[in-house]
Amino acid sequence: MSAADGTFARTTITAALPYTNGPIHIGHLAGVYVPADIYSRYLRLRGREVLFVCGSDEHGVAIPMKAAKEGITPKALIDKYDGVIRESFEAFGIAFDNYSRTSAPIHHQTASEFFTRLYEQGDFQEQVTDQLYDPEAGQFLADRFVVGTCPKCGHKEAYGDQCENCGSSLNATDLIHPRSAISGAEPVLKQTRHWFLPLDRYEDFLREWILEGHKQDWKPNVYGQCKSWIDEGLKPRAVTRDLEWGIPVPLKGAEGKVLYVWFDAPIGYISSTKEWAEREGTDWEVWWKDPGTRLLHFIGKDNIVFHCIIFPSMLRAHGDYVLPDNVPANEFLNLEGQKLSTSKNWAVWLHEYLIDFPDMQDVLRYALTANAPETKDNDFTWKDFQARNNSELVAIFGNFINRVVVLTDKYVDGAVPKHGQLTANDTETLAAMRAFPEKIADSLERFRFREGSQELLNLARLGNKYLADEEPWKVVKDDPDRAATILYVGLQVAAALAVLCRPFLPFTADKLAGILNLKGLAQPLGWESLPDRDGLLPSGHRIGQSELLFRKIEDAEIEAQLEKLEATKKKNEMENTPVTPQKETIQYDDFVKLDMRVGTILEAEKMPKADKLIVMKVDTGIDKRTIVSGIAQHFTPEELIGKQVTVLVNLAPRPLRGVESQGMILLAEDADGKLVFLKPEEAMGNGSVIS
Ligand code: 2FM
Ligand code: ZN
Repeated sequence: MSAADGTFARTTITAALPYTNGPIHIGHLAGVYVPADIYSRYLRLRGREVLFVCGSDEHGVAIPMKAAKEGITPKALIDKYDGVIRESFEAFGIAFDNYSRTSAPIHHQTASEFFTRLYEQGDFQEQVTDQLYDPEAGQFLADRFVVGTCPKCGHKEAYGDQCENCGSSLNATDLIHPRSAISGAEPVLKQTRHWFLPLDRYEDFLREWILEGHKQDWKPNVYGQCKSWIDEGLKPRAVTRDLEWGIPVPLKGAEGKVLYVWFDAPIGYISSTKEWAEREGTDWEVWWKDPGTRLLHFIGKDNIVFHCIIFPSMLRAHGDYVLPDNVPANEFLNLEGQKLSTSKNWAVWLHEYLIDFPDMQDVLRYALTANAPETKDNDFTWKDFQARNNSELVAIFGNFINRVVVLTDKYVDGAVPKHGQLTANDTETLAAMRAFPEKIADSLERFRFREGSQELLNLARLGNKYLADEEPWKVVKDDPDRAATILYVGLQVAAALAVLCRPFLPFTADKLAGILNLKGLAQPLGWESLPDRDGLLPSGHRIGQSELLFRKIEDAEIEAQLEKLEATKKKNEMENTPVTPQKETIQYDDFVKLDMRVGTILEAEKMPKADKLIVMKVDTGIDKRTIVSGIAQHFTPEELIGKQVTVLVNLAPRPLRGVESQGMILLAEDADGKLVFLKPEEAMGNGSVIS
């Protein structure tokens, strides 16, 4: 059902609450926040009643874990990232009506009451199950707090819920040699009591509501995931956890237990609405309980089950709430061919982008929308970003506006001219322009933001082509009246662009409104008025100061970004290189038995019929002796001669292919098998003792 058809009186739009365990990156923006913002701006422009809420998701095991890593308290961690995230949203023009926090008292109260209501209605099952327990730390372990060897790829530091090396989803009990991330102790199984939401009870309702009711209007990726969950059969899900960080379970005898983060987080949308309503002095309930409210959840694909199966089952169990009308989830965005990853720092962080591209928020908003992962995972590349800016925003949109405005200043004294007789091209261009509000609306109503952004660009293309065909800069010499008419038409297209670009490019829309002096219009220009109004900018209307909307992005700027990513890749490779395990401990007496000296290689030659061996004569300061070493595939004999090296001189002689080797030259070897000689930092006399 579309919002524009007027079936609903109002729309509540939610955007996934971001975890406050790190800043946000382009994947978050492309997948959730830009589409949600475009949609809510679009509805507002059409005069619809909209509430757009979000907030920080501050519970869950990831928070205390990350805090421990950063050496700060969980509270300090959530405060820090809540601040960073808020700034990024504000900077990118994500226009929430309210941005709250799940640590806020209003949320604790709302989530507790929600739990209590379901508990009192008998909607939970109480079960005692075996959970992993850290006997040293004396606490139960969430899967994330158990580490061990991945049974799929052998990675030694896999988490109990997921291996970050191969991406497999795991259960903590699958890990080989599991150990607690808190104390390092081997976990044991221990019984614990929890409350479960019996999702199996909601199967029939979900089948009818989603599989029969939303086959047509939900995106295929969302519908498909729901279908496979439901068809597989739903099981009861625990909604409480043994943990200290979170909202305490509001029951007697449940000390040391908190609500599961995925139980409390979606209730955060409701708490955020309450916070907003309190501030505005208005009612919150109508936005969640009135059948005339259309509820929409904007999320990424990893959140589908929570928003389409679990949260609706909670809302249904509660009984007072409307259900989501649509959940337009996006797929994932990759970066230069690799999965975005916070822990691997493989991301474009919004706060860093703003340092490198100040005041260019709309460029990123546009590039991410034009290439949004709407139906499948997509790749963000810096080259594509540059092309979207240079070939589309600068060359088409910016160029059109600049030409119209400069020509208006130059030939018609900066005011919208009167038009004369309109030609066929003039009327066709104006008619084509008037069709765009509907075209863009149609894309947005179906959550096709990419398509909508391309329609917007097509409108700029229409204007550009019109100017190129009519060439007012030439016509003006012989027929200034005709040139004025051409500019009149061009200015109408520019005005339509100023209105229609607002959901996508809010900063540009403000600038363009200034350039065209839209505030100076007697009748404000709105989405609805574009198709019918005769003269969006009436003759005589004075336009404002010209300024450039977009600037070209140079190759060097893109190369700098690629270099930054390359450096991250190298760093990750180095950090992930497996290190040979330490050998067994030796005593000092064992160590001092080694007699190591500085020596110099005097002669070197390959051993005949042996691929790997080189026979060397080495001056050890004590004597000149023969040493055979398996380094022929790494060094040529010529490059060895004259090198100062470290020699283990009291190693028992041993024959190698018939030649007696009287000692060993020491080398360092990395994980790739690269060899490097160990030698004193400065030249030393042969025979100098190493200790
Ligand atoms: O996946 C995430 O980032 C979660 N923090 C989203 C929560 S959405 C909602 F339920 F609050
Ligand atoms: Zn693995």
